[in-house]
Amino acid sequence: MSHRLTVIGTGYLGATHAACMADLGFDVLGLDVDEAKVARLAAGDLPVYEPGLEPVLRRGLESGRLRFTTSYEEIAEFGDVHFVCVGTPQKAGEYAADLTYVDEAISSLAPLLRRPALVVGKSTVPVGTAARLATRLTRLAPAGGDAVLVWNPEFLREGFAVQDTLQPDRIVVGLPAEPGAAEHAEKVLREVYASMLAAGTPFITADYPTSELVKVSANAFLATKISFINAMAEVCEAAHADVTKLSEALSYDDRIGGKFLGPGLGFGGGCLPKDIRAFMARAGELGVDQALTFLREVDEINIRRRIRMVDLARQQLGGSFIGRTVGVLGAAFKPNSDDVRDSPALDVAATIRAQGGKVTVYDPQAMANARRAQPSLDFGDSALDAARDAHAVLLLTEWAEFREMDPSALAEVVAERNIVDGRNALDPETWRAAGWNYRALGRP
Ligand code: UDX
Repeated sequence: MSHRLTVIGTGYLGATHAACMADLGFDVLGLDVDEAKVARLAAGDLPVYEPGLEPVLRRGLESGRLRFTTSYEEIAEFGDVHFVCVGTPQKAGEYAADLTYVDEAISSLAPLLRRPALVVGKSTVPVGTAARLATRLTRLAPAGGDAVLVWNPEFLREGFAVQDTLQPDRIVVGLPAEPGAAEHAEKVLREVYASMLAAGTPFITADYPTSELVKVSANAFLATKISFINAMAEVCEAAHADVTKLSEALSYDDRIGGKFLGPGLGFGGGCLPKDIRAFMARAGELGVDQALTFLREVDEINIRRRIRMVDLARQQLGGSFIGRTVGVLGAAFKPNSDDVRDSPALDVAATIRAQGGKVTVYDPQAMANARRAQPSLDFGDSALDAARDAHAVLLLTEWAEFREMDPSALAEVVAERNIVDGRNALDPETWRAAGWNYRALGRP
């Protein structure tokens, strides 16, 4: 049977989910409380940079299958499956996640649910949230027990959002304890995800807390892997070893694998840093903080990479940034994204500025967001522009256009040929042969 879907929250996750589900042939109504965002999306204008998403959005709008609204009444009337895709940011000054938006979504939707409905949580939440929301849903909904909550975490990566949504590695569904409700919910979700299941995607059913934990433990593992290789980078620097060779050699062991073993400036963005912190906070509440104290190390190793990067740049400049010009390549937290939330690149640029350097930043996509986040920095129109008259150039986000830079062309515009490769993205021999003083994190 064909379901009518709604998506609450049209940020990164929600906009992608809504557009992709419409592309699969469902009628989808997206909701956001932000009128300006709804107007932009309805006009086919994506508020974020995400390769390949805008054509999917436009196809949905043109087909008439995808629409957007600010009205909860309208989505309650329209849909039988409601996806909750609102944000769960880090609370100001705390490690814990701020659940205001998920709470509001349920409180706004539930009283309007007069007929059977499935509410599908996709947001990343602390373990225990789904059970609490389920109680609230049945209490507030006129449909009572016919309004059923399931938890269905989302694993999409920025830059690969469409691919990760339409061809996920796995579908995880946390079901209610009551067998009748669980059976019905599983049946509906199997229908919604039928095309992915037909393609062989593993479908894992679990209880609420397990499904919530799959998401945060996946992110904790990925963060740990990155910090592991960055800890090895610290040792390599002290021992005059090369962490890129070490990482390559480790990657051939199937048990270790090469993904997320890229040494450099470490992780940032809207997920990994806040998710490991919220996970630690939740473990504390559950009385098992010891189980996750290692994540504090993971976080600290990650932050130390930024400090080390600033130190290396300062060393190249003879010990001080004062009166010196630094060209920064990259502002986004990773390539193929315009997201600067907790961006290691922007953090390093701002620190050098605060220590007296004149910093000019260039990023292929994140300029508008970077300007808003760090208005005191200078911005260039291109990589060459940012590097003009620089005493040191720092590569902080490994966009393809920076990897492919011509060292001779860059040499012509700088004041001094100093470069620090914060992402181990360049070939040291090529750059040294072109007369550059090349330094990198974790390499001799
Ligand atoms: C992450 C998870 O991958 C995704 O499954 C989850 O749903 C949301 O969080 P995302 O934040 O989009 O996705 O970025 P990701 O590709 O995971 O990269 C995170 C950070 O790790 C980036 O700053 C990246 O530069 C860094 N990274 C990644 C490394 O430093 N080294 C690596 O080897 C890989």
